[in-house]
Amino acid sequence: MIDTQAINKMQSTLVGGQPVWLFGYGSLIYKVDFDYLACKPARIANWTRRFWQGSHDHRGTPEAPGRVATLVEEPNASCIGMAYKVSPEVFEHLDHREKNGYLRLTTQLHFSDGSEAEGLVYIATEDNVAFLGPASEADIAKHIANSKGPSGPNDEYLLELAKALRELNAQDDHVFTIEQHLLALSS
Ligand code: SIN
Repeated sequence: MIDTQAINKMQSTLVGGQPVWLFGYGSLIYKVDFDYLACKPARIANWTRRFWQGSHDHRGTPEAPGRVATLVEEPNASCIGMAYKVSPEVFEHLDHREKNGYLRLTTQLHFSDGSEAEGLVYIATEDNVAFLGPASEADIAKHIANSKGPSGPNDEYLLELAKALRELNAQDDHVFTIEQHLLALSS
């Protein structure tokens, strides 16, 4: 089994103590439990947000995983999120928070003000043990409606993310379609 937390700790990108840009596209947009020096909306190219990652530790359990966001490569796609400039020490907390399968990758961030910078993003790739993979938006909504974990109900993750994306003026058909199914299930 791949220990993503150990791999993240060995990364050389944090050597030197300089602040680093981090791109958040899931709970890192709306649950900011870490210090940051600056933050601004950004997008990354050729990645798309998908609720294809299982959650054993936040929105589900190992026996009954929830479904949370990861990024999947898609040529010409663009994923909007929030970028935070953070001190390298913050990654000790973040690597623990994201320990269920997310690896830190380096990518180019395009900020909404037109500037660019290299940054890090946590991505759960399909070879991690918690990866669930594709399902229809209707099935994902049913799964989310029935899941909960130590961080709370799984629907809270989806609904908070959808709200935050609207505030960023980000169109995300995958997330908004799951939201519609979820709201229909609870009405
Ligand atoms: C992220 O938000 O950028 C990573 C996935 C998550 O923590 O929900």
